[in-house]
Amino acid sequence: MTSLSDTITIKDLEFIPYVTHSDILERIKEIGIKINQDYENKNPLFIAVLNGSFMFASDLMKQVDLKSELTFIKVNSYEGTESTGSIKEMIGIGQSVTDRHIVIIEDIVDTGHTINHLLSEISKKDPASIEVVTLFSKTESHKTDIYLKYIGFDIPNKFIVGYGLDYDGYGRNYQDVYQLV
Ligand code: IMP
Ligand code: MG
Repeated sequence: MTSLSDTITIKDLEFIPYVTHSDILERIKEIGIKINQDYENKNPLFIAVLNGSFMFASDLMKQVDLKSELTFIKVNSYEGTESTGSIKEMIGIGQSVTDRHIVIIEDIVDTGHTINHLLSEISKKDPASIEVVTLFSKTESHKTDIYLKYIGFDIPNKFIVGYGLDYDGYGRNYQDVYQLV
């Protein structure tokens, strides 16, 4: 049950509670266990996609019990509540991915344009393997078939904010996730 007082307003839009921080942390623990099994002795390089994945990356990495590295990439394809389809790379990976086991950390895969762009760019540099961990997937909105090895929550095509996810730059700071009314 959600009451009116739980709703938040960001700019012109109203959002209601959707996934709590504690549910997110519980799911991240489960994903962490799988990653620890799958990447044992593989020295993975995690690449977190900024800005949206900063909270997820932070909580996920606390569950990773492996010799591993973490770096960041910054891309941008969203304006307001719509994916624009054209990807701008704002900060590149300052590190070699060749022969490395790569795990891309995303906050959410919507149309899949962003992740497909990253997968094809990173694949050109001959990594040993490349997989995706995403906290949310709007699987019914994917424009192509995308294999996402680890998905936190499969959600319907509705705009969400919080836990790193923003609406026009705002709302990233909430620890819970909210859904557009
Ligand atoms: P895609 O390229 O359409 O898959 O969009 C991926 C990116 O758009 C994500 O990394 C997010 O930054 C952003 N995005 C997609 N859906 C949402 C949402 O519901 N809320 C906030 N940001 C979103
Ligand atoms: Mg993002």
